[in-house]
Amino acid sequence: MNQIIDNIRKRRSIRKYKDKAVPRKIIEEIIEAGRYAPSSHNSQPWRFVVVTNRKKIRELSDYIKRWFRARLKLGRIAAIFSSPLKEGIEKIKKRTYTEQDLFFYDAPLLVLICSKKGTFHIKDCSCASQNMFLVAKSLDIGSCWIGFADLVLSKSRRILTELGIPRDHELMATLIFGYAEKFPKQAFPRKEEAAIIKWIK
Ligand SMILES: Cc1cc2nc3c(=O)[nH]c(=O)nc-3n(C[C@H](O)[C@H](O)[C@H](O)COP(=O)(O)O)c2cc1C
Repeated sequence: MNQIIDNIRKRRSIRKYKDKAVPRKIIEEIIEAGRYAPSSHNSQPWRFVVVTNRKKIRELSDYIKRWFRARLKLGRIAAIFSSPLKEGIEKIKKRTYTEQDLFFYDAPLLVLICSKKGTFHIKDCSCASQNMFLVAKSLDIGSCWIGFADLVLSKSRRILTELGIPRDHELMATLIFGYAEKFPKQAFPRKEEAAIIKWIK
Protein backbone atom coordinates (compact mmCIF):
# COMPACT_ATOMS: atom_id res chain seq x y z
CA MET A 1 0.00 0.00 0.00
CA ASN A 2 1.11 3.55 -0.71
CA GLN A 3 2.84 5.01 2.37
CA ILE A 4 0.54 8.00 2.76
CA ILE A 5 -2.59 5.88 2.59
CA ASP A 6 -1.04 3.48 5.04
CA ASN A 7 -0.20 6.30 7.49
CA ILE A 8 -3.68 7.75 7.23
CA ARG A 9 -5.22 4.37 7.94
CA LYS A 10 -2.86 3.46 10.75
CA ARG A 11 -2.61 6.78 12.58
CA ARG A 12 -4.26 6.72 15.97
CA SER A 13 -4.45 9.18 18.80
CA ILE A 14 -1.82 8.02 21.28
CA ARG A 15 -2.41 8.37 25.00
CA LYS A 16 0.55 6.46 26.43
CA TYR A 17 4.12 7.55 25.79
CA LYS A 18 7.60 6.26 26.52
CA ASP A 19 9.74 8.36 28.82
CA LYS A 20 11.98 9.39 25.94
CA ALA A 21 12.55 12.83 24.41
CA VAL A 22 11.82 13.40 20.72
CA PRO A 23 15.08 14.40 18.99
CA ARG A 24 15.25 17.96 17.70
CA LYS A 25 15.71 16.81 14.09
CA ILE A 26 12.42 14.91 14.24
CA ILE A 27 10.62 17.84 15.88
CA GLU A 28 11.84 20.06 13.04
CA GLU A 29 10.58 17.56 10.48
CA ILE A 30 7.15 17.53 12.13
CA ILE A 31 6.94 21.34 12.16
CA GLU A 32 8.11 21.41 8.56
CA ALA A 33 5.10 19.26 7.67
CA GLY A 34 2.88 21.90 9.26
CA ARG A 35 4.60 24.65 7.27
CA TYR A 36 3.83 22.82 4.06
CA ALA A 37 0.09 22.54 4.72
CA PRO A 38 -2.29 24.33 2.39
CA SER A 39 -3.67 27.66 3.60
CA SER A 40 -6.16 30.14 2.23
CA HIS A 41 -4.41 32.55 -0.17
CA ASN A 42 -1.22 30.87 0.97
CA SER A 43 -1.52 33.05 4.07
CA GLN A 44 0.38 30.59 6.28
CA PRO A 45 -1.12 32.24 9.36
CA TRP A 46 0.31 29.72 11.84
CA ARG A 47 2.95 30.18 14.49
CA PHE A 48 4.28 27.15 16.37
CA VAL A 49 5.22 27.10 20.04
CA VAL A 50 7.33 24.05 20.80
CA VAL A 51 7.47 22.97 24.44
CA THR A 52 9.98 20.28 25.36
CA ASN A 53 10.30 21.29 29.01
CA ARG A 54 8.58 18.45 30.90
CA LYS A 55 8.04 20.58 34.00
CA LYS A 56 6.28 23.22 31.91
CA ILE A 57 4.07 20.59 30.25
CA ARG A 58 3.09 19.25 33.67
CA GLU A 59 2.39 22.78 34.93
CA LEU A 60 0.05 23.39 32.01
CA SER A 61 -1.71 20.09 32.62
CA ASP A 62 -2.14 20.96 36.31
CA TYR A 63 -3.52 24.36 35.36
CA ILE A 64 -6.12 22.69 33.12
CA LYS A 65 -7.04 20.33 35.97
CA ARG A 66 -7.50 23.21 38.41
CA TRP A 67 -9.58 25.11 35.84
CA PHE A 68 -11.97 22.19 35.36
CA ARG A 69 -12.08 21.40 39.09
CA ALA A 70 -13.19 24.95 39.85
CA ARG A 71 -15.93 24.79 37.25
CA LEU A 72 -17.11 21.34 38.30
CA LYS A 73 -17.38 22.62 41.86
CA LEU A 74 -19.50 25.56 40.78
CA GLY A 75 -21.59 23.37 38.48
CA ARG A 76 -20.50 25.53 35.56
CA ILE A 77 -19.35 22.83 33.23
CA ALA A 78 -22.41 22.09 31.11
CA ALA A 79 -22.11 25.31 29.10
CA ILE A 80 -18.70 24.22 27.81
CA PHE A 81 -19.96 21.24 25.88
CA SER A 82 -22.35 20.77 23.08
CA SER A 83 -23.69 17.22 22.80
CA PRO A 84 -23.02 14.55 23.89
CA LEU A 85 -22.91 16.52 27.10
CA LYS A 86 -22.89 13.72 29.63
CA GLU A 87 -20.04 11.92 27.94
CA GLY A 88 -17.95 15.09 27.89
CA ILE A 89 -18.50 15.74 31.58
CA GLU A 90 -17.62 12.16 32.52
CA LYS A 91 -14.37 12.43 30.54
CA ILE A 92 -13.52 15.68 32.31
CA LYS A 93 -14.18 14.18 35.74
CA LYS A 94 -12.00 11.20 34.99
CA ARG A 95 -9.14 13.43 33.87
CA THR A 96 -9.53 15.99 36.63
CA TYR A 97 -9.80 13.97 39.84
CA THR A 98 -6.56 12.05 39.52
CA GLU A 99 -2.88 12.55 40.20
CA GLN A 100 -2.07 11.25 36.73
CA ASP A 101 -1.64 13.54 33.74
CA LEU A 102 -4.69 12.56 31.72
CA PHE A 103 -4.65 15.77 29.71
CA PHE A 104 -1.18 15.52 28.15
CA TYR A 105 -0.57 11.87 29.08
CA ASP A 106 3.03 12.63 30.13
CA ALA A 107 3.95 13.32 26.51
CA PRO A 108 7.48 14.74 26.16
CA LEU A 109 6.53 17.23 23.46
CA LEU A 110 3.78 19.79 23.16
CA VAL A 111 3.25 21.93 20.08
CA LEU A 112 0.78 24.77 20.23
CA ILE A 113 -0.38 26.31 16.98
CA CYS A 114 -1.61 29.87 17.11
CA SER A 115 -2.72 32.31 14.49
CA LYS A 116 -4.02 35.78 13.90
CA LYS A 117 -7.75 35.82 13.34
CA GLY A 118 -8.68 35.55 9.67
CA THR A 119 -11.47 34.21 7.51
CA PHE A 120 -10.03 30.71 7.28
CA HIS A 121 -7.40 30.58 10.01
CA ILE A 122 -9.08 27.71 11.87
CA LYS A 123 -9.10 25.58 8.74
CA ASP A 124 -5.52 26.54 7.85
CA CYS A 125 -4.25 25.50 11.26
CA SER A 126 -6.25 22.28 11.19
CA CYS A 127 -4.61 21.35 7.88
CA ALA A 128 -1.22 22.01 9.47
CA SER A 129 -2.13 19.81 12.43
CA GLN A 130 -3.11 16.83 10.33
CA ASN A 131 0.05 17.15 8.20
CA MET A 132 2.06 17.07 11.40
CA PHE A 133 0.23 14.00 12.72
CA LEU A 134 0.86 12.08 9.51
CA VAL A 135 4.53 12.94 9.28
CA ALA A 136 4.94 12.11 12.96
CA LYS A 137 3.39 8.70 12.31
CA SER A 138 5.75 8.11 9.40
CA LEU A 139 8.67 8.85 11.75
CA ASP A 140 7.34 6.44 14.37
CA ILE A 141 6.08 9.21 16.62
CA GLY A 142 2.64 9.11 18.19
CA SER A 143 0.44 12.15 18.57
CA CYS A 144 -2.90 13.43 19.80
CA TRP A 145 -4.85 16.67 19.51
CA ILE A 146 -5.86 17.91 22.97
CA GLY A 147 -9.01 19.91 22.47
CA PHE A 148 -9.61 20.19 26.22
CA ALA A 149 -6.33 22.09 26.41
CA ASP A 150 -7.31 24.44 23.56
CA LEU A 151 -10.49 25.19 25.40
CA VAL A 152 -8.86 26.08 28.70
CA LEU A 153 -5.50 27.58 27.72
CA SER A 154 -7.01 29.87 25.11
CA LYS A 155 -8.99 31.57 27.89
CA SER A 156 -5.97 32.61 29.94
CA ARG A 157 -4.07 35.65 28.65
CA ARG A 158 -1.46 35.07 31.37
CA ILE A 159 -0.69 31.55 30.11
CA LEU A 160 -0.71 32.63 26.46
CA THR A 161 1.74 35.43 27.26
CA GLU A 162 3.97 33.02 29.19
CA LEU A 163 3.99 30.82 26.09
CA GLY A 164 4.98 33.77 23.92
CA ILE A 165 1.69 33.89 22.04
CA PRO A 166 1.14 37.48 20.90
CA ARG A 167 -2.00 39.39 21.92
CA ASP A 168 -3.30 39.46 18.37
CA HIS A 169 -2.99 35.66 18.01
CA GLU A 170 -5.44 32.97 19.10
CA LEU A 171 -4.60 29.46 20.24
CA MET A 172 -5.83 27.11 17.54
CA ALA A 173 -4.45 23.70 18.40
CA THR A 174 -2.65 21.99 21.26
CA LEU A 175 -0.89 18.87 20.00
CA ILE A 176 1.13 16.29 21.90
CA PHE A 177 3.81 14.04 20.44
CA GLY A 178 6.12 11.30 21.65
CA TYR A 179 7.25 7.73 21.22
CA ALA A 180 4.14 5.61 21.61
CA GLU A 181 4.19 2.94 24.29
CA LYS A 182 2.61 0.96 21.48
CA PHE A 183 0.79 1.78 18.26
CA PRO A 184 -2.65 0.18 18.13
CA LYS A 185 -2.84 -2.19 15.18
CA GLN A 186 -6.30 -1.14 14.07
CA ALA A 187 -7.99 2.16 13.46
CA PHE A 188 -11.09 3.02 15.45
CA PRO A 189 -14.15 1.89 13.54
CA ARG A 190 -15.35 4.49 11.09
CA LYS A 191 -18.95 5.34 10.21
CA GLU A 192 -20.46 3.41 7.32
CA GLU A 193 -19.71 4.99 3.94
CA ALA A 194 -23.40 5.05 3.09
CA ALA A 195 -24.09 7.19 6.15
CA ILE A 196 -21.55 9.89 5.31
CA ILE A 197 -21.13 10.03 1.52
CA LYS A 198 -23.62 11.37 -0.95
CA TRP A 199 -22.70 10.91 -4.58
CA ILE A 200 -24.11 13.31 -7.12
CA LYS A 201 -23.48 11.72 -10.49
C1 LIG B 1 -10.20 18.71 17.55
C2 LIG B 1 -9.86 17.46 18.34
C3 LIG B 1 -9.83 17.51 19.73
C4 LIG B 1 -9.48 16.38 20.46
N1 LIG B 1 -9.36 16.47 21.83
C5 LIG B 1 -8.91 15.41 22.54
C6 LIG B 1 -8.65 15.56 23.94
O1 LIG B 1 -8.82 16.62 24.55
N2 LIG B 1 -8.17 14.47 24.60
C7 LIG B 1 -7.94 13.27 23.98
O2 LIG B 1 -7.51 12.33 24.63
N3 LIG B 1 -8.19 13.11 22.64
C8 LIG B 1 -8.65 14.17 21.91
N4 LIG B 1 -8.84 14.04 20.55
C9 LIG B 1 -8.59 12.75 19.88
C10 LIG B 1 -9.91 12.09 19.49
O3 LIG B 1 -10.52 11.57 20.63
C11 LIG B 1 -9.61 10.98 18.44
O4 LIG B 1 -9.09 11.57 17.28
C12 LIG B 1 -10.83 10.17 18.08
O5 LIG B 1 -11.32 9.46 19.18
C13 LIG B 1 -10.54 9.17 16.94
O6 LIG B 1 -9.48 8.31 17.28
P1 LIG B 1 -8.14 8.21 16.42
O7 LIG B 1 -7.51 9.61 16.40
O8 LIG B 1 -7.29 7.24 17.15
O9 LIG B 1 -8.52 7.79 15.04
C14 LIG B 1 -9.19 15.16 19.80
C15 LIG B 1 -9.23 15.12 18.39
C16 LIG B 1 -9.55 16.23 17.66
C17 LIG B 1 -9.53 16.18 16.15
